Amino acid sequence: MPLPARKERLVVVSNRLPFILAKGEDGEWRITPGAGGLVTALLPVLRDRGGVWIGWPGAHANVEEVRHAFTSSEAGYTLVPVVLTPEEVHKFYQGFSNEIIWPLFHDLQSHCNFDPSYWRVYQEVNRKFARAVLDESQPGDFIWVHDYQLINVAAELRGRGVSSRIGFFLHTPFPSLDIYLKLPWRFQLLRALLEYDVIGFQTLRDRRNFIQCVRALVKDAGIHGKGQVMLARMNGREVRLGVFPISIDYDAYAREAGSPAIAEKGAQLRQLLPNRQLILGVDRLDYTKAIPDRLEAFGAALARYPELHQRVTLIQVVVPSREDIPRYHELRTRIEQIVGRINGRFTQPGGWVPIHYVFQNLSRKELIAYYRAAQIALVTPLKDGMNLVAKEYCACSTDEDSVLILSEFAGAAAQLQHWALLVNPYDIEGTAEAIVAAFRMPLDERRWRMRRMRRSIRTYDVFWWVDAFLRAAIEKDLSAFPLMEDYLPRANHEVGLR
Ligand code: G6P
Repeated sequence: MPLPARKERLVVVSNRLPFILAKGEDGEWRITPGAGGLVTALLPVLRDRGGVWIGWPGAHANVEEVRHAFTSSEAGYTLVPVVLTPEEVHKFYQGFSNEIIWPLFHDLQSHCNFDPSYWRVYQEVNRKFARAVLDESQPGDFIWVHDYQLINVAAELRGRGVSSRIGFFLHTPFPSLDIYLKLPWRFQLLRALLEYDVIGFQTLRDRRNFIQCVRALVKDAGIHGKGQVMLARMNGREVRLGVFPISIDYDAYAREAGSPAIAEKGAQLRQLLPNRQLILGVDRLDYTKAIPDRLEAFGAALARYPELHQRVTLIQVVVPSREDIPRYHELRTRIEQIVGRINGRFTQPGGWVPIHYVFQNLSRKELIAYYRAAQIALVTPLKDGMNLVAKEYCACSTDEDSVLILSEFAGAAAQLQHWALLVNPYDIEGTAEAIVAAFRMPLDERRWRMRRMRRSIRTYDVFWWVDAFLRAAIEKDLSAFPLMEDYLPRANHEVGLR
């Protein structure tokens, strides 16, 4: 679908700049786009419309030394680094963002550290980002802010008289009223969100939760509309509320997974671990991903079903993340203990080791080779905005002979509910049953399910997502996306399980 004819410049604002800084052969520092879906989808739009990407280059970059790498604009867009002080990294990034909003929005209020000084620094850093936007933008630009770290940016811009259209996309879930109410700054954050012209959520459930919070806490806001088109009206302003499930560059993953180099890497992996099904877990080190629960479920499946012995290997890849936050550090220790316990119980010396644990950053090629080689994927977060590993795995399943076991609490469950094996990640025995069901699933059923998932992900890829959001934001057309109903659990007997 073509984008609207009138082309506003785009100003993208995200906490992290999704670019990699590396020294070229000539000794010069260069910036190259990262491999994430967001950057892949937005760069063509930025090149086409012109624009700027504003974000934090990460804690370790010495920005002054490499500033010229950011400012070379031959690519057709400009990158603007926002530098954070160590205190800001501690209180804004690790603190308010990742010790308050992150756990709360994933329903884990007991993991929150409601330190009052975090809120002050969160506001200051959001102001800093807003100042960068002010310096870089022109009247009439469309400003697109991403994720929970930067909720206050629109309010800060409005306070400085900016009247350009500003959109916000929340990559995480939005919690229900009962959980949201625990936040000491619940009124401020909700009102800050209502300063945007359009807010995008991953699923209907997230938008419903948000609307419930607005109804309860913002008395001067009225909610109108139905279906995809919902609005909040207050003080003569309108905030459009849309549902846009984020996705991946499906074609790029499918193409790479089908390449001879990946086929060879995948085959090597299968040769190293022959005569068995490979089960794959790939997660950032994060307590929302439920890695311990998943390992326990795998252990329970081995204990209950000896037919799995020597016939399956779980490859659990954990990508290091946020390690300066104590909870993340503890989690790593816990995971390693569980892996040790299960391997200690079932390993056959000189032979089968049930869990291969990989704590590393993987290259894109390595990741795709794992996706391609594994017959079963375990994607079982306690809660997730969307979960792109689930979609990447399906895109890379070019033989269409593999099974996705998916948490019903991942945003992706709404889209894939009819074809993935859905599990409640808190239910260890239920997840163990799903593992054995996947192991036994006949080829024709695997093909039937995987083909349909791939078709859906191919249709609603990340380019579709960008286009749908921009239509909602710029053309006020909220109808582009088909509503995907939330998954509602069915009792076992209704789905033919014991
Ligand atoms: C999630 C968040 C992103 C965040 C990413 C990595 O996907 O929604 O906003 O960038 O995790 O986390 P990090 O803290 O390393 O940026």
